[in-house]
Amino acid sequence: MSNDKFTTTDAGIPVNSDEHSLTIGPDGPIVMHDHQLVEQMAAFNRERIPERQPHAKGSGAFGHFEVTEDVSAYTKAAVFQPGTKTDVLMRFSTVAGERGSPDTWRDPRGFAVKFYTSEGNYDMVGNNTPVFFIRDPMKFQHFIRSQKRRADNNMRDHDMQWDFWTLSPESAHQVTWLMGDRGIPHTWRHMNGYSSHTYMWVNAAGEKFWVKYHFKSDQGVECITQEQADKLAGMDGDYHTRDLFSAIEKGDHPSWTLHMQIMPFKDAETYRFNPFDLTKVWPHDDYPLIKVGKLTLNRNPTDHHTEIEQAAFEPNNMPPGIGVSPDKMLLGRMFAYADAHRARLGVNYKQIPVNKPQCPVHSYTKDGAMRTENVSDPVYAPNSKGGAHADPERAPNMETFGAEGNMVRAAYTQHRDDDDYVQPRALINEVMDEPARERLVNNVTGHLCDGVSEPVLKRAFEYWKNIDQTIGERIEKSVRDQLKEA
Ligand code: NDP
Ligand code: HEM
Repeated sequence: MSNDKFTTTDAGIPVNSDEHSLTIGPDGPIVMHDHQLVEQMAAFNRERIPERQPHAKGSGAFGHFEVTEDVSAYTKAAVFQPGTKTDVLMRFSTVAGERGSPDTWRDPRGFAVKFYTSEGNYDMVGNNTPVFFIRDPMKFQHFIRSQKRRADNNMRDHDMQWDFWTLSPESAHQVTWLMGDRGIPHTWRHMNGYSSHTYMWVNAAGEKFWVKYHFKSDQGVECITQEQADKLAGMDGDYHTRDLFSAIEKGDHPSWTLHMQIMPFKDAETYRFNPFDLTKVWPHDDYPLIKVGKLTLNRNPTDHHTEIEQAAFEPNNMPPGIGVSPDKMLLGRMFAYADAHRARLGVNYKQIPVNKPQCPVHSYTKDGAMRTENVSDPVYAPNSKGGAHADPERAPNMETFGAEGNMVRAAYTQHRDDDDYVQPRALINEVMDEPARERLVNNVTGHLCDGVSEPVLKRAFEYWKNIDQTIGERIEKSVRDQLKEA
């Protein structure tokens, strides 16, 4: 043997053979006390854990975030103080595909960052798009089901996707974005990341601001066409995973520059768009980007399962100086993630090394399946036995936006320019050039000609005409022509 490493059972006991079961004579039956064989079979049968409900396919890497500018006027969070360098974990993903699905399917990409800060873990769980399909968490489960598989044939179905989208006009901005050039990134390194949501920042003096995060790729934005993506899906389903891993392995460390849009607290009341509506951006002219620092990935995982599959990101992980906004989607997410982790990984998922904060933890939670950290007395608060006590100075109450009125189930109140179509129309007419519009028409045509039937098809033409009359007419003609030819 070339090395002195010897195989053991999980209990560390040396084993006799890696190849042969224990039998009565070479040709006789296997005996039940062959614990090594039983352990191999039993552990194998339990290797798979449930995949994430959305965002099942993905991968990630480790690195650091370094603050290069001074934004202390806006937040007191330690992670954003000048010169601070913080370890990070990032995971990229598609939304609708299963764990083994191709990386290059047209879909938004997850852009999740865990900052291991001195004040506890900070998770910025964003996407590569600045907006989302819906604005109320009540619709999220329905939306994701419409993007996944039918009940009867277990197949994905464009008819149900467009059925949901056309009955949910607030999806128009995100669908336009998705069907445009940025709908399929060339690699994860070549896409931006956005918080999409508005969050709150609070400075040391207690002043509050509304903020949006923009992580701009230092590699530049590069996208691929539907044709290239389809080819890659057949040739290499792990194209994006492979690209990230190989780049880091070669020492080509990808980075993103973090910029913020910052809105004075009072502006929210009178701003022309509802600043908390997740289907809207804040135009750059209204709130320009303010540079903060640089995020770099420089270390690959060594065990995908323990470091990436078991990674648990949750938007509710926010250190002092960062808080939520009245965005209903964000508030819904405050519940959803930790609940998903308890179901997927077990109640003590924060003791899995990749999820463990790099600062002391005194939380008073206790026991439960798979707890590995020892708990010490006292196990209750308040106590007079030297246990930890809450410190409002360190963790001021961030729930400071006013809320009044009766309990209702209703849409947001309208701001002056709120309209589902105005921003996707700007994307088509002011951001895209004519070749990009032509690709948009082709992408939508391909999607609609793949299994979408009446009356959904007719509604889809109306949907696009509402966004932009000319684009809608071009899409209708292109689809009708293609269906006639088929
Ligand atoms: P700007 O002209 O200031 O910004 C346009 C933005 O669009 C840039 O961030 C650009 O990214 C991005 N972009 C370029 N091509 C595409 C594409 N095919 N799909 C999606 N985004 C693209 O305009 P405004 O801020 O006034 O916004 C106009 C429209 O631009 C919005 O309605 C929105 O759809 C889109 N947009 C706006 C963003 C925002 O936060 N304001 C962010 C991203 C998109 P880059 O700078 O990397 O070239
Ligand atoms: C993953 C719920 C909206 C980004 C998930 C998961 C759930 C979930 C349950 C799986 C978590 C896991 O098992 O680890 C929701 C709900 C939403 C919502 C209920 C709205 C009400 C959003 C939005 C974004 C987003 C708006 C982006 C701005 C992500 C990302 C992941 C994810 C990036 C994968 C995280 C990882 O890499 O592990 N979401 N989501 N989600 N979600 Fe959401």
